[in-house]
Amino acid sequence: MKINVNSTEYTLNVPDNTSLLDALRVHLNLTGSKYGCGEGACGACKVLVDGRAVPSCITPVASVQHKSVVTIEGLEKDGKLHPLQQAFLDEDAFQCAYCSPGMIMAAVALKSRNPHPSRQEIIDAMQGNICRCCAYPRIINAISKA
Ligand code: FES
Repeated sequence: MKINVNSTEYTLNVPDNTSLLDALRVHLNLTGSKYGCGEGACGACKVLVDGRAVPSCITPVASVQHKSVVTIEGLEKDGKLHPLQQAFLDEDAFQCAYCSPGMIMAAVALKSRNPHPSRQEIIDAMQGNICRCCAYPRIINAISKA
């Protein structure tokens, strides 16, 4: 099957029920998206599929054929971090940073549909992303300021 990731077309020879996360990490060596719960509950694996943040651990890779997938590796342009990546750095919005790629992808999706979300809208939109270090106040600040 063919999938488009970060504007590059890839051909994969994998079973249809392979998760998008495994396809990215194991087959394409794009290891920015993380495995947390494997059940769609923690958000560590979130990527954009046609602009929507989805948990790639429970998304079959076959379902993203003919769609556009963007991972954390695809945000940087011409050596410049995406404004949300920069804001996470500026606001020190992590401790262990395991959740950061999924957090940032969810925030990118939020900002693309609502460029100026209120603090409560950020909190509501980020419900599906868990930070075990509890860096939530700094994460919300970063998303707010980006
Ligand atoms: Fe996919 Fe937790 S690893 S949501």
